Amino acid sequence: MGLKSGKIRVTSPSNIALIKYWGKRGEQIPAHASLSFTLSHSLTETELSFVEEPSEGPGFRFFFHGRHRPDFEPKIATFFRRVAAHIPFLRDYHFEIHSRNTFPHSSGMASSASGMSALALALVQLERDLGADLDAFAAARRASFLARLGSGSACRSLYKGLVVWGRISAIPGSSDAYAIPYPYGVHPIFRGVQDTILLIQRGQKSLASSLGHELMQGHPHAKPRFEEAEKNLESLIPVLKSGDWEAFGGLVEREALSLHAMMMTATPAYLLMLPNTVAVLHAVWDYRKQTGHPLCFTLDAGANVHLLYPETHRQLILDFIDGELLRYCQGQGYMADRAAY
Ligand code: PMV
Repeated sequence: MGLKSGKIRVTSPSNIALIKYWGKRGEQIPAHASLSFTLSHSLTETELSFVEEPSEGPGFRFFFHGRHRPDFEPKIATFFRRVAAHIPFLRDYHFEIHSRNTFPHSSGMASSASGMSALALALVQLERDLGADLDAFAAARRASFLARLGSGSACRSLYKGLVVWGRISAIPGSSDAYAIPYPYGVHPIFRGVQDTILLIQRGQKSLASSLGHELMQGHPHAKPRFEEAEKNLESLIPVLKSGDWEAFGGLVEREALSLHAMMMTATPAYLLMLPNTVAVLHAVWDYRKQTGHPLCFTLDAGANVHLLYPETHRQLILDFIDGELLRYCQGQGYMADRAAY
């Protein structure tokens, strides 16, 4: 069954890693396993229009919030090139991709996870429209496999809840090629977990993650870091089940700091935390010491801080943020998100 032209609309969420993926080999094969939860409100909406037009291709143009953005196209071209090895009919079409994020691009929040997973979802939908026999589960796995080829973390955005990517013996069925839903018990305290993202620095982050992954090659601490990430993931399994927030916070914060330690000890060294990032981390530790409330932080490859806490403490923590942390934020301050279940 052929299709001359058409339009596919999809939405895909961002995710935040608890166990950080940092380092890869070959074609987007992770150096170690990672674990994230998928967010509810930070989404990319993508419309993929296609017209039959055979080319060496695959040919496309990319628009972001209605504007043609040639600067985003090289990364998408790499993705399309890799994907065309698995979906040969891509070369039969010309595509126009229109994407928008529900979160400000200038927030410094990574949009590659939601953006690439949305694009992968749209391509799998096209495969189905062209007759591929995939049920919902097989389609999600296929989209995860394809999304990985665009951005590693994107492959975790295809499922709700906690998601694992990377083969690790503690999690049967885990794979380097695609992500899977976290298969073990999760205590209710973690199910509605809140993620308030403090916008410390608006504008572009100062380093592409692809360069960061590259700098892990030959990094003197790479091997212990990869082993540590897997050990932390294994330690998190009983913690996620029992609901031990203190142990959870300890592991998650160590992961975030370890990721940034890899950046600071790379050659060349770089530092994505800003003075206000560090001020927030201290304020969180002080607050926890004084109140004992369940609150911890994690960091992505940037200066922003993700504050994680259970739904039961939402108002208390938002009061703390408004009273004590807003002074460290730029612009509109923060975005309130939560795990999608
Ligand atoms: O998916 P990439 O190549 O942009 O790498 C993402 C890496 C981190 O966001 C820092 C960690 C992670 O696991 O999401």
